[in-house]
Amino acid sequence: MAYNFDEIIERNGTNCLKYDGKAKYFGSNDLLPLWVADMDFRTPDFIINALKRRLDHEILGYSLKPDSFFNSLVNWVDRRFNWQIKKEWISFTPGVVSALNFSVLSFTKPGDKVIIQTPVYFPFFTAITDHGRQIAVNELIYKDGNYSMDYDGLRSLIDEKTKLLILCNPHNPVGRVWRKDELQTIADICLEKNITILSDEIHSDLILPGHKHFPLASLSDKIAAITVTLMAPSKTFNMAGLASSAAITSNPDLKRQFEKIPNSMHISSGNLFGITAFEAAYTHGDIWLHELVLYLDKNLTFIEQFINANIPSMKVVRAEGTYLAWLDCTNLGMNDKDLRDFFIHKAKVGLNSGTDFGSGGEGFMRINFGCPKSVLEKGLTRIEAAIKQK
Ligand SMILES: Cc1ncc(COP(=O)(O)O)c(C=O)c1O
Repeated sequence: MAYNFDEIIERNGTNCLKYDGKAKYFGSNDLLPLWVADMDFRTPDFIINALKRRLDHEILGYSLKPDSFFNSLVNWVDRRFNWQIKKEWISFTPGVVSALNFSVLSFTKPGDKVIIQTPVYFPFFTAITDHGRQIAVNELIYKDGNYSMDYDGLRSLIDEKTKLLILCNPHNPVGRVWRKDELQTIADICLEKNITILSDEIHSDLILPGHKHFPLASLSDKIAAITVTLMAPSKTFNMAGLASSAAITSNPDLKRQFEKIPNSMHISSGNLFGITAFEAAYTHGDIWLHELVLYLDKNLTFIEQFINANIPSMKVVRAEGTYLAWLDCTNLGMNDKDLRDFFIHKAKVGLNSGTDFGSGGEGFMRINFGCPKSVLEKGLTRIEAAIKQK
């Protein structure tokens, strides 16, 4: 391994949300934070060095996005997903959550319905309700420890007010990397019912061995024409603080509609450092990512083995992608408030409560395994001890 993912790097006192935001979020500072979706690994050297080189110039004026910025993403998705896109299909966005909000504003009217499949990343909810649109929930099916999409449920909830579906692929928090046949089925329903698809693929680089990511829009030209894909180097390369991401669509009408809001608000220029880091990540990131994914896979196997051996009352839903594991705590016999309090005050670990992700999240907790194995071991040992004292 060229990179050392075992290194412990002090993050306290750096205005870091995951560590310095603990007291505000959990009401306690005395816990090991395994929540917010960023990693405790060093942002890779090729990104840091590109930022340092840019700083050496010492003028931080207005800047353009060079062709090499767009080409870095064009080449990345070709190399990784065999998806051929054009530079003209890409819009810069200052973060994927911003892009979710622009999309809801652009593709729907107040009162329209937007479909999400819960349990799902919580800003999907506010991106809809904050703009006076209605959420249409199509809950995922959880059966025998596996998640799938409810196609019949989807068909039956679509009416004339339903305009948009937000897909999460890979799906945070349940960790599914949707298979090609699953994507095809959901896209066919949307094509038939005239629904635009916003495909949040921010976790698409974090695919664990044995699984393969298919950008939804790569399935066919027809599907591409109704899809806006959101991608970013932020999760992959641990650079979320730089708020730099992209929206991709081959449909010029969707692109024009999508860009109206960020352009009118003058936020599509991004910032110099985000642009520099984005290009460096997608140009030089392959080896680092390969090593990261192997490390993450070992961490997940460690979680499974530890929990199976020491905490048999809990179950791990095996993630196929992301660095987030979904823990089934339904057998612990606690309601959701007690479960949250138990993890914070008894186990002293900061996890996200399943209920934050909407219906279907009851009785679950989400743990972030993007950290050195020793940190994970400490967290799991605390959970084990607390459960044994219960
Ligand atoms: C599915 C999903 N979309 C978007 C984001 C955040 O995107 P950004 O930081 O670019 O706004 C996250 C972060 O956890 C996520 O899981």
